[in-house]
Amino acid sequence: MEAFSTISGIRKWVRSARAANETVCLVPTMGYFHEGHLSLMREGRKLCDRVVVSIFVNPAQFGENEDLDAYPVDLERDKSLARAEGVDAVFVPSSDQMYPKEFQTYVELTRIPGHLCGLSRPGHFKGVATVVAKLFHIVEPDRAVFGSKDYQQLLLIRRMAEDLNFDIIIDGAPIVREEDGLAMSSRNTYLTEQERRSALSLSRSLDLAAEMIDRGEKDPGKLAREMERLILSHPGTRIDYVKPCDPETLEKVEAIRGPLLVALAVRIGRTRLIDNRIFHPER
Ligand code: PAF
Repeated sequence: MEAFSTISGIRKWVRSARAANETVCLVPTMGYFHEGHLSLMREGRKLCDRVVVSIFVNPAQFGENEDLDAYPVDLERDKSLARAEGVDAVFVPSSDQMYPKEFQTYVELTRIPGHLCGLSRPGHFKGVATVVAKLFHIVEPDRAVFGSKDYQQLLLIRRMAEDLNFDIIIDGAPIVREEDGLAMSSRNTYLTEQERRSALSLSRSLDLAAEMIDRGEKDPGKLAREMERLILSHPGTRIDYVKPCDPETLEKVEAIRGPLLVALAVRIGRTRLIDNRIFHPER
């Protein structure tokens, strides 16, 4: 596996792969790999001849009071995990390279960030769209794989790729969960034992939503209220949002009749966790 820290280095490597008629898949990450990241790399290997993983904790997507400084980093461990997955190249740029002093060009979407995480994390999706657009320009991959735990991010990147005419196929990979249902996240490492137990409230509330929808529940308000009740019965939980909504637009739905996204964000101690599930209820 090759490791590059410069934009010119990764560009040259990708261009020579493409000149040899090899397809390239990019897996953008912020590092500190868990099984979820590794599943994205495996997906990339299935889809293309070569897999490039970028590791960059993007300051532009963290708000002032967020966990940028505390974000876990272990580059050597990440590199050996990527190597073991058969990744061909890792790209680990510095902040100065990605955002030089004179940097002033951002990518901002007008509607998707007006929902869900965009409301409690102002500026977050502007930072995500900007760094992903830059990575797309730098790596010029044929495909790029993102996890579905960040459903809103995946939707936003698909929209951006289409709006800005990136000739890149965006693939979404399923959420990877711990055995007890907790969605994998680098932020799970912040949780104490008690908080880890309370963190199960997210996936349990989605199980409850599934049961209610199976029983024919049509009222999204009732669904959200019951989910909130379940979450708050776990110690130390604070709900950011629990939203049944349209999976394409993220707009509120009046009744549960077609495909439904149920997305939620919950704070447990100092950790903010997200999860979601898509339902296809019978009409
Ligand atoms: O999902 C992430 O890890 C990040 O938001 C991403 C897509 C790598 C952009 O920094």
